[in-house]
Amino acid sequence: MTSDLHARVTRLPLEDRVRLLTGRTGWVLHGSPEAGLLPITVSDGPAGVRGTEATQLEHSASTPSPTAVAAAWDTELMERTGRFFAAEARRKDVHVVLAPVLNLHRSPAGGRHFECFSEDPVLTGELGAAFVRALQGEGVGACPKHFIGNETEQERTSYRARIDERTLREVYLPPFEAALEAGAWTVMAAYNGVDDGVESESMTDHRRLLTGLLKEELGFDGVVVSDWTAARSTAPSANAGLDLVMPGPSGPWAEGDALLEAVRSGQVPETVIDDKVVRLLRLASRVGRLDRDTAPAVEGEDERVVLREIGSRGHVLLRNEGGLLPLDTRGVRRVALIGPNAVEAYTQGGGSAHVNAKYLVSPEEGLREALPDGVELTVVRGGDPRRLLPLASRDLVTGLCLDLFDASGAPVGAQTPDRTAVHADVDDPRAVRAVVTAALRLSEPGVHLVEVGVVGRHTVRVDGEVLSEGGRTASDAEILESRHSHPDGPRTEVRVDGPRTVRVEVELEVADFGGFGRGVITQLRHLPPGPSAEEEIAEAVRAAEEADTAIVVVGTNDEVESEGYDRPTLALPGRQDELVRRVAAANPRTAVVVNAGAPVLLPWLDEVPAVLWSWFGGHEYGHALADTLTGRSEPTGRLPWTLPRDHADVPVMDTSPHEGVLAYDEGVFVGYRAYDRDGREPHRPFGFGLGYTDWEISGALLDGALPERVGGLLTGPVRVTATLANTGARPGRHVVQVYVEPPADGTGPARPVRTLAAFASVRVASGARTDVHLDIPPRAFAVWDPAAHSWRTPAGVYRLAVGSSSRAIAHRLSFEVC
Ligand code: BGC
Repeated sequence: MTSDLHARVTRLPLEDRVRLLTGRTGWVLHGSPEAGLLPITVSDGPAGVRGTEATQLEHSASTPSPTAVAAAWDTELMERTGRFFAAEARRKDVHVVLAPVLNLHRSPAGGRHFECFSEDPVLTGELGAAFVRALQGEGVGACPKHFIGNETEQERTSYRARIDERTLREVYLPPFEAALEAGAWTVMAAYNGVDDGVESESMTDHRRLLTGLLKEELGFDGVVVSDWTAARSTAPSANAGLDLVMPGPSGPWAEGDALLEAVRSGQVPETVIDDKVVRLLRLASRVGRLDRDTAPAVEGEDERVVLREIGSRGHVLLRNEGGLLPLDTRGVRRVALIGPNAVEAYTQGGGSAHVNAKYLVSPEEGLREALPDGVELTVVRGGDPRRLLPLASRDLVTGLCLDLFDASGAPVGAQTPDRTAVHADVDDPRAVRAVVTAALRLSEPGVHLVEVGVVGRHTVRVDGEVLSEGGRTASDAEILESRHSHPDGPRTEVRVDGPRTVRVEVELEVADFGGFGRGVITQLRHLPPGPSAEEEIAEAVRAAEEADTAIVVVGTNDEVESEGYDRPTLALPGRQDELVRRVAAANPRTAVVVNAGAPVLLPWLDEVPAVLWSWFGGHEYGHALADTLTGRSEPTGRLPWTLPRDHADVPVMDTSPHEGVLAYDEGVFVGYRAYDRDGREPHRPFGFGLGYTDWEISGALLDGALPERVGGLLTGPVRVTATLANTGARPGRHVVQVYVEPPADGTGPARPVRTLAAFASVRVASGARTDVHLDIPPRAFAVWDPAAHSWRTPAGVYRLAVGSSSRAIAHRLSFEVC
C-alpha cells in the first residue's frame, strides 16, 4: 500500500504536492484527481460534530461533554459514544472528527476542562483509546489533540510549557500513546510550545516531539495537523514533522508559495514533502477518499435514546442523606424547581466544541414528563448570576442593519443581521468601517438597562450620545481568546415612562481576524425592569417552603466555562451559594443539582441532604436529569477529578504563564496525587460517587502467574480478581478501581502515594456478587528514568489497593518486584 501511495506522489509536480499540505478552506482539504485524492472534510469536535462552513449552522446532536461521558469510567459506553459520533459525522459528510481531547485536568481552573476527560492519565488514555477505536472502526478518522502540554488557556497560542522528561513520559504522554496504540489516523499539534529540557519550541515546530517521539519512536504513520492558525513558520515547521497546515487557504506554507520556495532553495528536502503527501493519501485511503468515495454510511442509534442514557450514566451522586434521591414520586404533590440553571441550563461549554444544538430539553420539560400527572411544578430562578445583560430580544428591535464603508467613507455594501448578536463576515477588502444601527422599542415603565458589546475600535452612541469610543484594533486573539463571544462594552440606564424608541449606533473598524477572516462583531443587550436578585431569592425561598421537595439547579454558564480563558475563581457565580443555603433552610427535602463542567466549590455540600453533579449534558440534558432524579436510571458516575474544599487546597490554581513560560513544577503530582502527597482532605476524592445501591468489595486476590522483571519492565500484567457484592435493594453499577502503591522506602525518585492502574464498571443485580478481573499493566509499576531515557521498575514490595475511590480502599494486596 505504502509503495502505491509513493507511486501516486511521484506522479505529481512539486507545486501540486505542496499545495495539498494546506487546507483548501477552514474545514476541507484539497483534492488531487491525478493522485486519486478526493477532498477530505474535518470538523470539530468533542461534544458533537459541528460540520463545515456550509453545514455548521445546520443542527447537530449536542452530546454530553467529554468529562460527562468520562465520568462513567466505562470504556464500553465511550465506544458507544464514538460510534454515535461516527454516524453523526457521516450524516454531516465529515471524514475526520477533531477529537478526543487528551490533555489533562492539570488545574480545575482550565477553561477547556469540560473538553478533557480526567486529571488522571490512565483514565484519560483508556477512554481516549476507546473513542478512537470506535470512531475509526466505523471508518471516520479521529484526531487526538492537542499534542502536547495544552492544559491552559491564558496566552494559549504563545506560552511555552516547561515539562520535565519524567513528567512528560509518566503523565502527559500516556493518553496520546494509548490513542496511537488504538490506531489514531491524525494528531493535532497544539498552539503552545514545549520546553522538554532539550528542545524549546512551539509545538508545530517541535522536531524532537513531532518527529523524534511521535513518528519515529511511537511509529505514528498518520497526519500531524496544526491547531487552527497555530503554524507560524515555513521551513522549521515542515522539517519538524508538521504535515498539514489548517485552516486554509492561506497560512505560512501557502502564502507567497513560501514552502515551495523553501523546497526549491534546499531548506526543506523534497523527501520531507513526499512523506507528508504519502501520509495524507494514507489518511484518504483510511477514510474512504482515495480513487472514489467509499466513505461508509454509518447507522447510528436513536439520539434521543443514546444521549439520554449516556447523560444519566455519567451523573455523580455526591451526597444522599436519608436516601432523598431518587425522589419518591408517588408521595409528592408539589415540587419547586429553583435556580438560574433550572431556568437556563448550560448544556455545552463554549468555544470550538460548541455545536448548534438541535433542541434542548430543559430541566423543567424533563421533570414535567417524568413526574406523575397532577404534581405541581413551580419554577423560580432565584437570581441571575451573569455579569453581562441578556441579548436584546429580536422582537423589540427594528431596523437592524449593517452598512459598510471604504477608506474614503463611501458606502460599499450593507447587510441585514438577523440576530442582536451581530457576527458578520466581511469579504469585501474595500470595506474598512462598519456602522450597525438598531432601534430598540421599550414600553414597560421603569428603568431599563441597555448594553452594547463591541470587538475592536469603536464608537457607541445611544440616542446620539457617545457612550464609549476607542478600544484597540482587533486581531485573531479576539477569536482565540473567545472575547468575541462575550464582548464587553458600555451600559446605560434608560428610564421609560411611556412607549419610546432608543436608537443605538455602533461604529466599528472592520476587524482582521487573521486565519478566521475579516468581520464585525457587536452585541445589543437589554434588561427590562424586573425583580432584584434579593426579591428573586426570597421568591425561591417561598416556593421551597410551599413545596414537598425542592430541587435547586446551580452551576456555571457561558461566561464562565469556555475555550479561550481560564477561570480566576472556582466559586459559583453570583449569589448561588446563598440561594442553596436559604432554600435548604426553608425545605429539609432539598436536592441540589450542579450543572457545571469543571469543579466548582460547594461550601454547603455537607449541609444539604442530596447533591448530584450533572455536568454539561447536551441536548437531552433535561431528560437525563429527570431520569436520575426520579430513579428511572442510576447515576453511575464517579468523579474523574478531585473536588476541592477550598481554593487553598487546589494544587495548581494559578494557570498564568510567567514571562511566557508555564512551568509544570508540580511534576508528576497532578490532581489526587498532590492531595495524597500533602495529606489534604478533598471535598470528594477522585473516583468518588454513590449511586443508588450499596456495595461491598468483599475480597481481592492476585490471580494467575505473576510476571517477572526483565530489563526495565515486568514481563506481563498482574491480574487482580475482586469480589463485588451489591448489598442494596436495587440493581446497580459500580466502578472497581485498583491503584498501585509503590514501595515507600525512601530510595529512588519521589513517587505518588498511589496511582490509578485499572478500573472496571460492572453491573450487578441486587443481592448478587460477581468476580471482577482487572489487569494491571507493567507500566503501572514503572518510573521513567531521565538519565537512561527509559522505563525502570524499582525493586520492592508494591501494594495493589482495590477500592471504590482513591481514598476508599477496601483491600490491599502485596506484590514483590525482585
Ligand atoms: C481549537 C481546536 C479546534 C480548532 C478548530 C482551535 O482554536 O484549539 O481544538 O479543533 O480551533 O476549531
